[in-house]
Amino acid sequence: MFSDTARKWMVSINILVCSIYLGQRYLDVRLSPEALLQHMLVLEKDNIVGVGSQQPKVALGYGGCHDLFVNATALLDYSELYGKPEHFNEITNKEELLRTLGLPDTRWAIGGNAPLMAKRFNTEGWDVLFAAKMSKKLKELIPSQIKIVGDVANEEVKDDVHMILEYKADEEFGEYKAPRANRFIMHNDKNNPLLSSLEKFGETLPEFQPNLLVISGLQMMDNFPFQGDGTEQILNQPKNILVHFEMASYVDIELLLHLTTKILPYVDSVGMNEQELSNLHSVLEYGEVSVVTDSNPRVAMALDLMRLIFTKTRHLNQEHGSDRNLTRIHVHTLAYQAILTAKDSNWKRTRAATAKASLTAHRYVCDNPNIELERCKLLLDGSFAVTRDENDSRRVYFDSAEPIACWDEVVDDEDVEICVAPVLVCKEARLTAGAGDNISAAGLVLQVEI
Ligand SMILES: *[C@@H]1O[C@H](CO)[C@@H](O)[C@H](O)[C@H]1NC(C)=O
Ligand SMILES: *[C@@H]1O[C@H](CO)[C@@H](O)[C@H](O)[C@H]1NC(C)=O
Ligand SMILES: *[C@@H]1O[C@H](CO)[C@@H](O)[C@H](O)[C@H]1NC(C)=O
Ligand SMILES: *[C@@H]1O[C@H](CO)[C@@H](O)[C@H](O)[C@H]1NC(C)=O
Repeated sequence: MFSDTARKWMVSINILVCSIYLGQRYLDVRLSPEALLQHMLVLEKDNIVGVGSQQPKVALGYGGCHDLFVNATALLDYSELYGKPEHFNEITNKEELLRTLGLPDTRWAIGGNAPLMAKRFNTEGWDVLFAAKMSKKLKELIPSQIKIVGDVANEEVKDDVHMILEYKADEEFGEYKAPRANRFIMHNDKNNPLLSSLEKFGETLPEFQPNLLVISGLQMMDNFPFQGDGTEQILNQPKNILVHFEMASYVDIELLLHLTTKILPYVDSVGMNEQELSNLHSVLEYGEVSVVTDSNPRVAMALDLMRLIFTKTRHLNQEHGSDRNLTRIHVHTLAYQAILTAKDSNWKRTRAATAKASLTAHRYVCDNPNIELERCKLLLDGSFAVTRDENDSRRVYFDSAEPIACWDEVVDDEDVEICVAPVLVCKEARLTAGAGDNISAAGLVLQVEI
């Protein structure tokens, strides 16, 4: 009935239709955790830095404090038996606190953003200079290779203490059940606001000649330290030194407004979690702190906020006559890592950095350097919309051969690359405080060329 040629055409069309159909089906399939893990491990192995003859250098400020980790459930049970939690206001030192708590489930660790990031860079083979004010006891918790600027020997220095109440997902408090692992942090910081270590830090920088300067740990301060000569000295580094600012959960609007005028316009890079993302966006856009935050924002929404922050900050760069432009934003969330970098910048290896951040997120939270698939779950679907803009229907599909999604686009007339890596979420969280610092540092480690 049909000629040979017609038959051949029909077969080809049939195959084409089937392939399109199967292709669609295939693309909607969820990404395999195994493929993702293998891919990320290869990227990590191929991108080791700090092992050559030249060691990269990072300078970090500021802070240093003691973290006391307390099991929240156990503490609440305890409070019911022995009184209301208010009595913790009275506590003035570690011993008293421990005696009051009398709980088995507590542990001490070095805390604060800067020391955690400092340790991470040290682990990754970097030469680290760290500005802090701390007691001898606390200093013992810092690896000896890390150079410390500030009053360390002074016995009078009392360490700041953060008490961290941790709880796991599904843990119950009376009638409540925790939706995810999390923690509350209470603090009583006195050292941070002191300017002396800042000044010394500024004086040491020209001699140390870092490749990267990281500013963090400002959230616990009652007084904003960045007014006066100290600031200029620190932020006026030669342009070849990249400057990163790690956000934290600022609730004080005054402090946030200071940050957006005194720090943000003068840095190359900024890192934050989903809560800080929404806060920073809200301050830049409306001049206020956002009250409610989605703890697991969709990728499209996070990317939109990143584009807005990029645009607004680039305008601030101009307004303030800064000699730096924002060229990098790293957003770390429970479900994924997203890094945006300007193509015309000195940030390298964005794809590998996103992968490393994702691996670090899992390892840190599971507290295990070996990633076991049984402990992983993926919260992302097989694809995501790139924006919430209804006129832009771009969608990105994770592909098992290329499970980290990277693409180019133009934001505020600037060519940028955006990479999104799903996180192999740790099913049984063991550590949550400090995760952001480890993750942010891990991302930076690969992005600086020396
Ligand atoms: C806290 O203690 C309770 C029992 O007292 C236990 O079930 C829970 O796993 C502990 N939580 C953490 C985060 O260790
Ligand atoms: C920052 O970006 C603006 C606009 O893109 C450009 O004119 C300016 O030269 C840039 N500044 C620096 C320090 O690169
Ligand atoms: C997180 O960083 C600390 C140093 O701050 C390091 O000791 C620890 O091993 C890191 N955790 C992971 C799992 O990367
Ligand atoms: C989408 O396009 C329509 C028609 O051009 C326009 O009216 C609308 O404002 C656009 N929406 C957005 C979010 O840009």
